[in-house]
Amino acid sequence: MTHPLFGAAYYPEHWNSERWPIDARLMQQAGINMVRMAEFAWSRLEPEEGLFDFAWLDKAIEILMAHGIQVILGTPTAAPPAWLIAGHPEILPVNEDGQRAGFGMRRHYCPTQPVFHTATRRIVEAMARHYQQHPAVFAWQIDNELGNIANGARCHCSSCRTAFQAWLKQRYGSLERLNSVWGTVFWSQEYSAWEQIPVPMRNVRPASAGSAYNPSLYLDFTRFTSDSWVQYQQLQVQILHDLCPQHRITHNLMGLFPYVDYVKLAQDLDVVSWDNYPRLPAPWSAFKGNWSPSHVAMSHDLMRGLKGRTFWVMEQQAGPSGWGRISPTPLPGEIRLWTLQSVARGAEAIIYFRWRTCTVGTEQYWHGILPHEGTPGRRYEEICQTGEELQRLGALVGADLPAEVAILRSYDAIWAFEAQPTAEGLAYDDQIGRYYRALWGRNVAVDLITEDGPWEPYKVLVAPCLFVLRKEVSTRLHAWVEAGGTLVLTFRSGVKDEYNRVVDQPLPGALRDLAGVQVIDYTALLPAGTGAPCGGPESLELVIDGTSHNVGADVWMDDLQVNDAEVLGTYRGGPFDGAPAVTLKRLGAGRVIYVGTSLDDGGQALLMGKVLEVAGVSAGVPSPDNVEIVRRVHEGIDYWFVLNHNPVAHEIRLPSGGIELLTGRTVTETVIVNGFDALVVCSQPGI
Ligand code: GLA
Repeated sequence: MTHPLFGAAYYPEHWNSERWPIDARLMQQAGINMVRMAEFAWSRLEPEEGLFDFAWLDKAIEILMAHGIQVILGTPTAAPPAWLIAGHPEILPVNEDGQRAGFGMRRHYCPTQPVFHTATRRIVEAMARHYQQHPAVFAWQIDNELGNIANGARCHCSSCRTAFQAWLKQRYGSLERLNSVWGTVFWSQEYSAWEQIPVPMRNVRPASAGSAYNPSLYLDFTRFTSDSWVQYQQLQVQILHDLCPQHRITHNLMGLFPYVDYVKLAQDLDVVSWDNYPRLPAPWSAFKGNWSPSHVAMSHDLMRGLKGRTFWVMEQQAGPSGWGRISPTPLPGEIRLWTLQSVARGAEAIIYFRWRTCTVGTEQYWHGILPHEGTPGRRYEEICQTGEELQRLGALVGADLPAEVAILRSYDAIWAFEAQPTAEGLAYDDQIGRYYRALWGRNVAVDLITEDGPWEPYKVLVAPCLFVLRKEVSTRLHAWVEAGGTLVLTFRSGVKDEYNRVVDQPLPGALRDLAGVQVIDYTALLPAGTGAPCGGPESLELVIDGTSHNVGADVWMDDLQVNDAEVLGTYRGGPFDGAPAVTLKRLGAGRVIYVGTSLDDGGQALLMGKVLEVAGVSAGVPSPDNVEIVRRVHEGIDYWFVLNHNPVAHEIRLPSGGIELLTGRTVTETVIVNGFDALVVCSQPGI
């Protein structure tokens, strides 16, 4: 198979079969070598219970194969057919308002429902048996975007409630223990039978305000629902592994999607893939108006970390998108630029969504490579060019992307903040994104890991708002810092134990000695313009190497007492005027920076510059705003991806000249990168 894999999501069932050979020819001309198919085609594959029809799919695959195109087959379980639901309406999920979904969308199933497991086994086994020896089948995609919010990421039906109770029994062993760690004495919530334990329904509006259920119950429910998706996926993985051991198994994840623990979900997969729509910030991602190309990069980095070095992009945006409303179209060059950004950050497959824009159904406005009428246009031309160029980068697939810095993103923190958002302006991924953006702006490579990920390889670990802290994590952090690591901690860290109870110590709880500070008071800052006292941003004097800088701070302020640290920043004005805000403690061979507030971009950039310097992290290549530079290393040679997300040209100075691989030109170390253009320079010192 040629690398990278290059293709599109293809739905032959949406079109007359006379069109199929035309599609295959156009795909072949565009350099497409892979298509994903069938992930929503259950009603065509099993039109009646136990009656299977693969003839149409066989025919479509045969035509594709004759054009040199292989197939990733989707199991179609995201779209249970009407006959199945009519016979077993209990499959339909129940939302947090207690309402059962109706038929008419997709993802209308509960992942713990036994009858749905039976139906899943039947269709997946039938497909696997039919295609196990097929020469064109390369891989399987299980289901589609498990947990995607269209019909609720979490089901609240009686089957889920029973499964949740069993999950709790397994975790706590006795009700006595559960009552004790959950603190159910509060509001007389003590349970005397497992069956009394509820699933948390919506009880606070708007939903973004959190939940008034016991926070311990809420966190366990989010863990349970995540596990239920992992288990549902396992059911399918098992069948496919047994019947098709030679095929690779993947699932299409959703980057920063917060409702499923992707570390656990990825464990059972051969390869991680994800769906990348740069022009359409995902509805669940909270960047508080700070959206930038850095967040796409951050999602790539998160996905890359799940299974080692590479991942696939299973859906790469190929046009203007949206269901009811249409997003602005990718400007000329942007589809190619976004594709090269994916490859730069480790993608070894690019599958565009979708081949041709459909004329029927919910996604009439979600534009594919071809427009509704099926005639090649500017997007097709751009993709042809991109496909050709990617062939020249083949050797780079799987090249290293060495990172000395990691950011810790914790699912427990995501879910505990979901129950208690804590401050109006606080969004966990926004905090992660602010640190990421400061590093991305310096072209410093970052890996995203969880608290269980390996920290040893890194010089710097940034752990924003490490809200829920397990004991062993704080022990590991101490040891890692003493051994020479540089740790960045922030406000709202060490607040909760693993049961989501607030610790009965001054904050940052178990991290207090490590940070050398303790929080003696704190305040939420309301977003600017609310007219209330503490309606931030406030100002901060940040002293970096003896020079004082005035920077902005918002969201939150800790009033710090310094026990054993050096003060880097002090509040000016606001409720804690003159108090320390940013500190640095040296410990063993390492150091800990504690940041008691949320800094604006300028402050963040200054601070991270200092952090990288004290930690001895190699400097990234300087570039203007929104020109992204990624270093890949293959067989000892540096490859520089230069990605210009701006509409205008910029001049960049690389560490050395070399061969620009997309054009084959020799370039010196000073290169011009045009607006929305990209270069890939294979370093050859001396040029
Ligand atoms: C997701 C899904 C696709 C399609 C696109 C566009 O990413 O995986 O099936 O629905 O969104 O809506």
